[in-house]
Amino acid sequence: MTDVAHAVLECRSIFRRFKEGDSTLEVLSGADLVVKPAERLAIIGSSGSGKTTLLQIMGGLDDPTSGDVYVNGQSMADLNEAKKGVLRNQYIGFIYQFHHLLPEFTAHENVAMPLLIRRTAKEAALEQAAALLDRVGLGARLEHKPGELSGGERQRAAVARALITRPKLVLADEPTGNLDAGNGEHVLRLMLELNEELQTSLVVVTHDHSIAAKMDRILVLENGKLDDATGV
Ligand SMILES: Nc1ncnc2c1ncn2[C@@H]1O[C@H](COP(=O)(O)OP(=O)(O)O)[C@@H](O)[C@H]1O
Ligand SMILES: [Mg+2]
Repeated sequence: MTDVAHAVLECRSIFRRFKEGDSTLEVLSGADLVVKPAERLAIIGSSGSGKTTLLQIMGGLDDPTSGDVYVNGQSMADLNEAKKGVLRNQYIGFIYQFHHLLPEFTAHENVAMPLLIRRTAKEAALEQAAALLDRVGLGARLEHKPGELSGGERQRAAVARALITRPKLVLADEPTGNLDAGNGEHVLRLMLELNEELQTSLVVVTHDHSIAAKMDRILVLENGKLDDATGV
């Protein structure tokens, strides 16, 4: 058995079934995974193989039908929604294919939000958010709302929002899937640089093999299970 205390995240025999009328769709069929501190992991798999479902379960946004997820040694199944929310805010940053920034708030406010949620003083939160937005090349876009930013700029703001709390783990679901090659590379480069600087573990779901090749380890999700595909 793995030492869960030293894993940033561990999935043990994750099953996820969706009921559809009389039939049941089994998307995950015993997926196992250990994410180590500061490691970079790619999860690849064809469309519909269950990558997003798995990532949602890893982040506690969805519950497995059976199996256990441990975040920093803590079983998610033992936590109520409020405690799961606190754990997410403390340990995990999310980056989605579509930025998920709040449209009515500025880039500055969006990035400061995770700090405000954990009750960092407003002035300090805004100061840190401005510094990180500057770091991702958006120092001149602080007061822009998501609708006033380009796709690449929105995604860089989303990267800043995910990393503002210096999380132990970043979960990214096709983070460059909606961008052209140049903007995609820029976003990926920033993610990798910040991951290195902050010693954050990174799990990237992608169907882009050139992105996967930049990670320490590649896992393929197939038939509901994860297999090592590094170097394959
Ligand atoms: N909430 C849900 N209810 C029913 N089926 C779902 C739900 N979420 C995902 N699925 C199904 O699970 C399968 C895997 O979906 P998903 O995890 O989004 O795959 P991927 O991200 O690899 O493309 C798909 O067949 C999808 O239709
Ligand atoms: Mg998906």
